[in-house]
Amino acid sequence: FKTLDDVDVAGKRVLVRVDLNVPMDGGTVTDDTRLRAIRPTLTELSQKGAKTILLAHFGRPKGKRDESQSLRPVVAALEKTLIQDVGFAEDCVGEAAAAAVARMTPGDVLLLENVRFHAGEEKNDPAFAAELAKLGDIYVNDAFSAAHRAHASTEGIARLLPAYAGRSMQAELDALSKALGNPERPVVAVVGGAKVSTKLDLLGNLVAKVDHLVIGGGMANTFLAAQGIDVGKSLCERDLLDTAREIEAKAKAAGCAIVLSADGRLAKEFKANAANRVAPVTDVAADEMILDIGPAGVEGVANVLEQAKTLVWNGPFGAFELTPFDEGTVAVAQKAAALTAEGRLLSVAGGGDTVAALNHAGVAGEFTYVSTAGGAFLEWLEGKELPGVAALSATS
Ligand code: 3PG
Repeated sequence: FKTLDDVDVAGKRVLVRVDLNVPMDGGTVTDDTRLRAIRPTLTELSQKGAKTILLAHFGRPKGKRDESQSLRPVVAALEKTLIQDVGFAEDCVGEAAAAAVARMTPGDVLLLENVRFHAGEEKNDPAFAAELAKLGDIYVNDAFSAAHRAHASTEGIARLLPAYAGRSMQAELDALSKALGNPERPVVAVVGGAKVSTKLDLLGNLVAKVDHLVIGGGMANTFLAAQGIDVGKSLCERDLLDTAREIEAKAKAAGCAIVLSADGRLAKEFKANAANRVAPVTDVAADEMILDIGPAGVEGVANVLEQAKTLVWNGPFGAFELTPFDEGTVAVAQKAAALTAEGRLLSVAGGGDTVAALNHAGVAGEFTYVSTAGGAFLEWLEGKELPGVAALSATS
């Protein structure tokens, strides 16, 4: 695909798809990570004299105008991040949008209202994509985290205008391809989270690509149970034991070692500071739950990381939101960060709770790359083609 290096944007109307689906509380943006991620693209466009028109969604308003899901409150946060005025249009198509665009001068930035206020967005309706495309001369996609959606502003429009990847999109794809596309081996994947059922495709794809697959969180219990270990009242998907065995067999055939913790931190109650003990995973009582990996498990993962050149991380180990069941995640995250700082490991993390877990461990900034994406990161780990990325390539 083409990038901003391949086009002269001066004086052009540049439609930029960004991800402004940011955490908000009472009309205030509470985490500006996604805003900081798009700053390089937006600053570059302004400096080069483009008229930058931002397309974005917020929430899931189901194709209808819903003031509680307006993008207007994001304007102030965006102005602060960009150190620049940002205009706002009440609609992303029609007269309001056209008039606001017509008033722009080179260097201006304009945010259009939530594209999901129109049903045509999620339907990827060609007529709606054409309405959006009318507003610009070229299209830039800088929203990797929305690229798993085949919507009008992420996919359809890329087929109607000359299309380019923005700097954040480039950085994401570059980091991901270094991590799994053509990685330095050995490659370790850490996959945590509660349920195997939500990560079946991901596990199936990873065992074929990585050398070690470390399974953590509730999903590890299903794998332990599949080996005949009694996990007490731990979270466990008993209907997936055969599936877990199949994944293990696939891993074995592909030369991928599945790593499970030898010990756990056990408690009878799922709450912060619940009375707990460390024990081998083979020693869980009927009324106990495994809520984190134990010190032996941490050491086991640390040893694997010591040998590795590349790490892909998705999902926490234990119930990391409850102390002290965050200790395993924190210890492994710190180990990965230390190896990264020593230049021994390329570490890429992303998806769902992962960024929150790494922030909690205080090391998100020390990983080689932390993706801003949730669902898109997962789909990419699953080996799926992301429609928003594919559309960029199709037009190059
Ligand atoms: C996200 O927040 O992960 C993206 O913006 C996608 O949002 P969606 O899941 O509502 O499509």
